[in-house]
Amino acid sequence: MVTEGNVFVLRYMRYSDIDRVMEIDRMSFALPWSRRTYLFELQNDNSTLLVVAPKGPRRRLWESILGRRRDEPLPVGFCGFWHIAGEVHISVIAVHRDWRGIGLGSLMMAGVMSHALGMKASLVTLEVRESNVTAQELYRRYGFEFVGRRPGYYRDNMEDALLMTAQPLDAAYRERLASLVAGLMSKLRFDDVTRWPIIRHAKITAA
Ligand SMILES: CC(C)(COP(=O)(O)OP(=O)(O)OC[C@H]1O[C@@H](n2cnc3c(N)ncnc32)[C@H](O)[C@@H]1OP(=O)(O)O)[C@@H](O)C(=O)NCCC(=O)NCCS
Repeated sequence: MVTEGNVFVLRYMRYSDIDRVMEIDRMSFALPWSRRTYLFELQNDNSTLLVVAPKGPRRRLWESILGRRRDEPLPVGFCGFWHIAGEVHISVIAVHRDWRGIGLGSLMMAGVMSHALGMKASLVTLEVRESNVTAQELYRRYGFEFVGRRPGYYRDNMEDALLMTAQPLDAAYRERLASLVAGLMSKLRFDDVTRWPIIRHAKITAA
């Protein structure tokens, strides 16, 4: 569980993560994705799935090919986004209920927005349930604003979806994201940040 010593890694999702990601998905959403959907998304060139996990021992090349090490920590959150025609659409984001409220959702949003900046996306969009104030707060922090509504969008209870977008992803947004990541670094320990375009740009190094 969460301890002072936890260091987190944000990385691309692998096939060996599917069972755990589906577990988090089922505890988080009334309409979770099927295994077939995850398989499709992992093969889809227009889709990127990330997971956040406590950092474990370094993997060797053959372990990366064969899948999970027995002692490798399981992911505790995941997110996905589609990149089509120069735009990014956030398709899913969830954190295991035991790991919420410590900054991991924010860490994944920073990762997604960093990718969006790296691919020079013109617009980032998402849908959120009208009742999901927690997620809305998270998105607003990352520069999203309400731009529309899809009435009765969610099939389980016919709840409306609110549409949110972040734009433009310009130099000012880059600075905003760098400052959000710097804030995250002061409360959460994570690595692999040097691979993020935004971190390289802002010349921030992990403490
Ligand atoms: C939404 C979700 C991904 C946030 O993940 P998280 O790791 O708990 O979020 P963080 O700890 O990074 O918090 C980020 C911000 O979200 C907001 N937030 C988090 N928990 C909150 C709560 N209980 N009430 C209100 N706002 C909250 C705050 O603005 C928070 O920033 P702060 O801690 O600096 O105040 C997580 O709650 C979750 O998995 N929910 C179920 C799935 C879901 O609703 N996904 C979104 C679908 S659109």
